Amino acid sequence: TRTPVNVTVTGAAGQIGYALLFRIASGHLLGSDVPVNLRLLEIPQGLKAAEGTAMELDDCAFPLLRGIEITDDPNVAFAGANVALLVGARPRTAGMERGDLLSANGGIFKPQGKAINDNAADDIKVLVVGNPANTNALIAQAAAPDVPAERFTAMTRLDHNRALSQLAKKTGTTVSDIKRLTIWGNHSATQYPDIFHAEVSGKNAAEVVNDEQWLADTFIPTVAKRGAAIIEARGASSAASAANAAIDHVHTWVNGTAAGDWTSMGIVSDGSYGVPAGLISSFPVTTKDGAFEIVQGLDINEFSRARIDASVKELEEERDAVRALGLI
Ligand code: NAI
Repeated sequence: TRTPVNVTVTGAAGQIGYALLFRIASGHLLGSDVPVNLRLLEIPQGLKAAEGTAMELDDCAFPLLRGIEITDDPNVAFAGANVALLVGARPRTAGMERGDLLSANGGIFKPQGKAINDNAADDIKVLVVGNPANTNALIAQAAAPDVPAERFTAMTRLDHNRALSQLAKKTGTTVSDIKRLTIWGNHSATQYPDIFHAEVSGKNAAEVVNDEQWLADTFIPTVAKRGAAIIEARGASSAASAANAAIDHVHTWVNGTAAGDWTSMGIVSDGSYGVPAGLISSFPVTTKDGAFEIVQGLDINEFSRARIDASVKELEEERDAVRALGLI
């Protein structure tokens, strides 16, 4: 029998947490033969609700779920963690400036990064979901000098999945017919969903679509502003789809991308494609045996270059702001 994998989830009592935990416990994160121990980190006000969720997890009698621990202490939550999903974050409230938002999140992600550094297992893999995800990942990574920088990733898989669905609708295909789509840059309104290297049923997606105006005026804004459209329609932000993307992100990281395909992940730049080294930016990546590589050698046209640069510029501004605040 396999040793259980320790999976830590922060913000466990939140709406993404509620959509996420049951899928982790039922084997969708790591595989249907991998037992898991769950560690739930919440702030003190969230502990009671997390306990309620844990009662429901018990009541599912998941064969793979070997234990649940609930705590408000990051050092306990990350002890021996193999996978950490950092979901809890400080949302932007009315009248809050970006600097306030970054500093409030720095107060969460800096200590969590340090707790990961000091307590997690050597093979720790971190996914930051809580926004601003890329820069929160950068803050946590900077606070964990003993952990290889590439273990800190930010989620752009929801954007990737949103783009897959929009492109399938436009081309009258299904998402399984689409390969090699890329989200570049920041998980924000400046992100760039790129179909110039994507394939639809083996044909170049941009040629199949053959409509640059649709790309610029419909596709890109629909994907980039989908979060706001969900809030408008549902009266609450994306939760099940965000949880699903988190599951996909880690599952792909651990189990690998399919031959001939790639995915999108926010990862530490090595300087590829003119993205300054050290920024956590979304790239096309292939994964294998728990490691990933940036897809190299893609030709970036002018349309793409301008949009990648704009999103990367925003990431640089966020990095400079958290540097000025002493968070990295
Ligand atoms: P929520 O407000 O329902 O839940 C957040 C939970 O985090 C709360 O239970 C809160 O008590 C907890 N929390 C706050 N600070 C914490 C800390 N220091 N340690 C542990 N727990 C803490 O929010 P929801 O809807 O679950 O969203 C969570 C985050 O995910 C938000 O920042 C949201 O913007 C982000 N998000 C990111 C997406 C992406 O694609 N990267 C997509 C959708 C949401």
